[in-house]
Amino acid sequence: MKGYFITIEGPDGAGKTTQLKMLRDYLLGKGYEVILTREPGGTPLAEKIRNLLLDPASGEICPVAEALLYAASRAQHVAEVILPSLQQGKIVLCDRFVDSSIVYQGLGRGIEPQAIIDINHFATQGITPDLTILLDLTPEQGMARLAKRNKEKSQELDRLEQESLEFYHKVRQGYLDLAKTSPERYKVIEADDSIENIQQRIVALIDKYFTI
Ligand code: TYD
Repeated sequence: MKGYFITIEGPDGAGKTTQLKMLRDYLLGKGYEVILTREPGGTPLAEKIRNLLLDPASGEICPVAEALLYAASRAQHVAEVILPSLQQGKIVLCDRFVDSSIVYQGLGRGIEPQAIIDINHFATQGITPDLTILLDLTPEQGMARLAKRNKEKSQELDRLEQESLEFYHKVRQGYLDLAKTSPERYKVIEADDSIENIQQRIVALIDKYFTI
C-alpha cells in the first residue's frame, strides 16, 4: 500500500504547526499510522541546516545558496524520512515543502521559479504532495501574530521572520497563485479565525479524502 503525503503551507504566523499537531492526533485517533515532520528539518542533518538558515548570525546568505541549502535539507529529509514512510503506507504530514521554496526563494528572493522547481525535482526524487493545505492570512495579520507569539515566548524574530511586509506580500500572492494553478492538490483555508474553527475546516477537508 502506498501512503499519503499531506503538506501544510502558509506565511509565518499562520498557525501551521499547531494545526498539524491537532490533525496528527485526529488521524491517530482514527487508527491511521501518521508521521509528523517539518521543513527545513526532520532529520539530524536537516535540522543542522535549518539552524544555519534561521540563525540571524548567518548574516546575508545569497539567494542561490539559500535555495540550495533548503533543497539539501529537503533531499536528506525525503530520502531518510518521507519516502520510507510513504513506502510503509503511512500518512506523512509535513510542515512546509517545495512550495515554500517556490514562494520564499523564488518570488520572495527573485530567483527564477523554474530553477527552484528544477533543483527541487532533483532533491525530492520527483515526489509531490497528494494534498496541500494553504493557511491564508494577510501579511499584516501574520506579522501581528508572530510578534505576539515571540513576546509570549520571549524570543527574537528569526532571520526569515525579520523580512519586510513587502516580502510577505509577495509570499502570500505566490501561494494564492500556486493554489490557482493546482486546484486539485491545493486547498485554501482562511486562517484569520480561532484555532478550533480552523481545525474544523481542516478535518472536514481530510474526511473527504479518507472515507473513515
Ligand atoms: P517554519 O519553521 O515553518 O517557520 P514558522 O513556523 O515560523 O512558519 O519555517 C522556517 C522559515 O523558513 C520560514 O520563515 C519559511 C522559511 N522557508 C523558506 O524560505 N524556504 C523553504 O523551502 C522552507 C521549507 C522554509
